[in-house]
Amino acid sequence: MNPRTGCILPLTEPVDSLGDYLDRGGGEGLATALRHEPEEVIAEVRTAGLRGRGGAGYPTADKWASVRASGGPTRYVVCNAAEGEPGTFKDRFILRRNPYLVLEGTAIAAYAVGASRAFVVIKRRYEQEIARLQGALAELTEAGLLGPVTVQLVLGPDEYLFGEEKAALEVIEGGEPLPRIFPPYRLGVFAKRDACNPTAVNNVETLAHVPTILCNGAGWFRSSGTDTSPGSTVFTVSGDVRSPGVYELPFGLPMRVLLDLVAGGPANGGRIKAVVPGASAGLLTEGGLDTALDFESMRAAGSGLGSAGFVVYDDSTCMVAATLTFARFLAVESCGQCPACKHGTAEIAEALERLERGLGSEKDLDTVRQKSGTVTSGSRCALPLGAEALVGSALAAFGDEFTAHVGRPCPLPRDLPVPKFVDFDDVTGRFHYDERYRLKRSDWTYAAGPEAGAVRSA
Ligand SMILES: Cc1cc2nc3c(=O)[nH]c(=O)nc-3n(C[C@H](O)[C@H](O)[C@H](O)COP(=O)(O)O)c2cc1C
Ligand code: SF4
Repeated sequence: MNPRTGCILPLTEPVDSLGDYLDRGGGEGLATALRHEPEEVIAEVRTAGLRGRGGAGYPTADKWASVRASGGPTRYVVCNAAEGEPGTFKDRFILRRNPYLVLEGTAIAAYAVGASRAFVVIKRRYEQEIARLQGALAELTEAGLLGPVTVQLVLGPDEYLFGEEKAALEVIEGGEPLPRIFPPYRLGVFAKRDACNPTAVNNVETLAHVPTILCNGAGWFRSSGTDTSPGSTVFTVSGDVRSPGVYELPFGLPMRVLLDLVAGGPANGGRIKAVVPGASAGLLTEGGLDTALDFESMRAAGSGLGSAGFVVYDDSTCMVAATLTFARFLAVESCGQCPACKHGTAEIAEALERLERGLGSEKDLDTVRQKSGTVTSGSRCALPLGAEALVGSALAAFGDEFTAHVGRPCPLPRDLPVPKFVDFDDVTGRFHYDERYRLKRSDWTYAAGPEAGAVRSA
């Protein structure tokens, strides 16, 4: 390919109108793609080393190539804008600032895999982002700037599972967000016995990187980041830091730099005790803050990059309580199709709650240990992996705190929200939390009873 460099802005630069977008090089990525064969487009994305930003870091070119190679004439692309990972606001941030880029990336993906139809799945309650997407879609379609693909918005429910790719397909088909068994590249949207309709599901941010890669070239993309995690990503930092926010930075910088220099360091003069990368990977402790922020280094440190959303807890935090907030979130969001996940997530959350209330026993601690090792058994989706990884890492790093809770009230009783964000105020740099998930220990009452667990909420 013969790229023209410098034609597109960073993902998070605000773009107000189609004219503004075109002035800054918008549309060049798709135009470049359409001048080449789809296989060449996939090859360029492979050379760039683009990896999925939806959580797993899967190579985008490999996903597209397997959808393209799958049988049948009908293929689809799904842009995943459901964003439900606790501690993450990057996709909504990008959509608010530059929906054109995401739609152009979706159109390039459709051309690459050979799809004539694409869907953008988004939560119904994300009204600002829907309005921006609708406006941009109308403008791009009218200007003929989406190539041969038709893009449709699909508004869905608030559940965490709506963002799981197999559940998202169910919602597109008019169903509930219940993950099916086969992956989308094998059984896609509207699949039937004689038509498997392979579908490429990609995260908003993944697709937003694609036009810049096509326009500026794989070499440009690789000039930042690391060898195995090239380019930049959009980090969300929340919790006990002075400047919570959404920041676009190259992969590979140490976690400590992100937290101290970019996010202002610990709030209230405390020390960082733990960093939780959403509800899908293990936590990092203070000793792990020099870990480089790339897929491999985070995994090697026993954690994971997830969707690059980090929740910071300082030393005023009870780690049993912090673990409980995530465990309870996962138990509530489990759809119950797989027995080990349905029962395991619930039992872990109940045992942790008893421990946190000072009413737990050694048996509860054993339950947490044992169930976090079996909760993923026979699972259709990766939701319970979060319970395994996060609870397991908390037990490993803060075992003494868990043991100290047996039969004793919590020494650090601070209300903690689950960082499920409903909004982010760009001006004040504040996240607004979904208050339904707040762990309000100040409201708890303790019922005296013979059984550990005879507790109720006020
Ligand atoms: C419970 C659960 C929730 C998820 N939610 C999202 C989400 O909101 N957005 C997203 O892009 N991916 C989400 N994923 C990951 C998707 O299943 C899928 O891997 C991703 O959209 C693929 O895009 P990528 O290859 O560009 O990363 C979720 C996965 C699980 C298990
Ligand atoms: S693993 Fe859990 S959340 Fe996923 S499909 Fe099974 S029961 Fe539902």
